[in-house]
Amino acid sequence: MNRRNHRPVRRALGPALAAVLLTAGTAACGTSGDDTSPGPELTVEGAYVPEPVTADRAGGFLVVRNDGDTADRLVSAASDLSDDVQIHETSGGRMRRVDSLPVPANGTLELSRGGNHLMFMDLEHKPAEGEKVSVELRFEKSDPITVEVPVEAVNHVPGASGHTGHSGQ
Ligand code: CU
Repeated sequence: MNRRNHRPVRRALGPALAAVLLTAGTAACGTSGDDTSPGPELTVEGAYVPEPVTADRAGGFLVVRNDGDTADRLVSAASDLSDDVQIHETSGGRMRRVDSLPVPANGTLELSRGGNHLMFMDLEHKPAEGEKVSVELRFEKSDPITVEVPVEAVNHVPGASGHTGHSGQ
């Protein structure tokens, strides 16, 4: 239950971080000195995992919001649901694995149905609606963020009229 043991991974990000600062540095600290924001300021919203149809894989959807003036990247994820959580993008109706996804400065990274998403491979068990799944999101610059992600119905659609019609249970 203690997810803290994932922390040491952050040490390995050192070289990557340095590389990013070199590339981002031209914009971040080259000219103006009025940058009061020390880096990305990330929050995670609206996370959910739809109950998968089969036990071999599940998708994960969420929004990473960046209120900072510095861009970041989602580089990996870890979960108690799977030892192999991948980052996928969808293009032309087909999904493929990518190494990372950008979290723009003062913008959002949206993981949603039909688009970018997390993919939990080789599930430890088949999650059921009402359950919670612990997911740790790791970033190029920011500290990891752990989210307790609710498992929703197979056909769950967030936001848009999700609770009209059959709101009973
Ligand atoms: Cu996928």
